[in-house]
Amino acid sequence: MASVMVSGQLAVNGGTPVRNVQENPWPSWPQNSERDWETEIEPALREVYLEKNEGLPATRGESFGQAFAAYCDARYGIIMPHGTDAISAALAGALDLDGLGDGGEIIIPNYTFIATASAPLSVRCSLSLVDIDPESFTICPEAVEAAITERTVGILPVHIGGHPADMDALCAIAKQHDLIIVEDCAQAHGAEHKGHKVGTRGDVGAYSFQSSKNLTSGEGGCIVTNNPEIRDLAHAFKDVGRRPGGERWEYPRHGWNYRTSEYLAAILLKRLTNLERQTDLRNENANYISGELESIGGITPPRWRPWVTQHGYHLYMMLYEPEAFGGQDRDTFVKALQAEGISSTPGYQRPLTDEGALKTVADQYPNLVRRMPCPHVEYTCNHSVWFYQSMLLGTKADMDDIVEAVAKIKHAFN
Ligand SMILES: Cc1ncc(COP(=O)(O)O)c(C=O)c1O
Repeated sequence: MASVMVSGQLAVNGGTPVRNVQENPWPSWPQNSERDWETEIEPALREVYLEKNEGLPATRGESFGQAFAAYCDARYGIIMPHGTDAISAALAGALDLDGLGDGGEIIIPNYTFIATASAPLSVRCSLSLVDIDPESFTICPEAVEAAITERTVGILPVHIGGHPADMDALCAIAKQHDLIIVEDCAQAHGAEHKGHKVGTRGDVGAYSFQSSKNLTSGEGGCIVTNNPEIRDLAHAFKDVGRRPGGERWEYPRHGWNYRTSEYLAAILLKRLTNLERQTDLRNENANYISGELESIGGITPPRWRPWVTQHGYHLYMMLYEPEAFGGQDRDTFVKALQAEGISSTPGYQRPLTDEGALKTVADQYPNLVRRMPCPHVEYTCNHSVWFYQSMLLGTKADMDDIVEAVAKIKHAFN
């Protein structure tokens, strides 16, 4: 770390912030520039426009699906309008669902974004929400096993913040109980489990390209799979029941319309070329901050479980220990950090089952939501602090601002 000024009045109490964000803003996201527009994006969009192929037959969408599948080392990729639909289509493909009949029960972590729950509900699956591993914040395999009933048909692990879930343990459970696994990779572009990109260990993976995600087209998604039957069923679900490469007016199955515009694919094809470099930079910066925070103490930086060979770092998820900060609670710490010019958030502050959405569903349809004991979810909701992925695209000096602010606050709180 460069010279760290640990004393001084906190900005939250009127002192000078470590970082003046008006003069020195954090890297924005996406990293758009006039130059990229002129050299890459505008020509790609112009081509779609002048070719007048803006939708079907969606050759660019297909090319992007193949390119993203190749990036993940999967056989098939299908572009989708959102990550949420990607999960729904992935479930439809893996379980042969048309979205009309009872889909059985899916086990999901109780610490995730609402879409992990709403997607299974959209294909008429009920939910069992279970505890997480306290170090990786991903679904706890023992909790999954304890939740299995006769209704259980699948597991939906979330590679939360970019940390891969324990796929070996989950695959073993799935095999033993004849369950499918759909991986929610919305926050984990580039993340690797034992050298393999996430989304390829389970039956199918679902990615999001929503505006905050590490690869984005504003809104968008993709599924990846090695299984041709899942590919065909998911394709039918997405494209009004059609077969891949089938006749335009032939619909062998019931399906919906989740097709995408060719403009989306044109942008994604360009941005995909930046993903690896950006993932490396996020990892480099995250590792640097982790080492520095470790030496300050009182913050547990993201822990890599042994199966992780690459973190996606959509989020830098830490645990805050109030005892090391003079007993000040997490929210007071986050406010102080924000005042120092360090953008940060407590993240999910309640188990998903305590959110209005699922409480309402559970009240109206008690058979659709089952909550298992979740002590680690509760602890994490009360102690976590997150930095966003775009901050990790900054310079070493930017990272030093983060470290300096944490050290300053710790000093002041004690
Ligand atoms: C864990 C998780 N799952 C699913 C989604 C859904 O993706 P989308 O917003 O593209 O529908 C998101 C993000 O928004 C997410 O963070």
